[in-house]
Amino acid sequence: MIGKLNHVAIAVPDLGAAAAIYRDTLGAKVSDPQALTEHGVTVVFIDLGNAKVELLEPLGDNSPIAGFLEKNTAGGIHHLCYEVDDILAARDQLKEQGARVLGDGEPKTGAHGKPVLFLHPKDFTGALIELEQA
Ligand code: CO
Repeated sequence: MIGKLNHVAIAVPDLGAAAAIYRDTLGAKVSDPQALTEHGVTVVFIDLGNAKVELLEPLGDNSPIAGFLEKNTAGGIHHLCYEVDDILAARDQLKEQGARVLGDGEPKTGAHGKPVLFLHPKDFTGALIELEQA
């Protein structure tokens, strides 16, 4: 069902500082910050060719990554995003197998303008998984 790794998302307390580490220390090309109000995060993208790294900083009062950063004050890996061909078919198959889909179960538009869903980490070896329709 799952295809390529699309991105690894790292939650960070300070997006400017994190972007500087990737740009200046690691020598990566880092995008301009993009505010994703619907998702409660500001994000920068680092395109590595085979996959991306996304650095996420909380945006607004109810950011879904705020609790994560309270527990991981220096930041940390927040989720992995795998590509699927058909997100609704993938969702229905996963639900049939007992997996929990987060939120209302309907895809939202993700950072790349494509439909995304999140799967409960307790059903997937402790890692939060995002599915993105490629
Ligand atoms: Co993501």
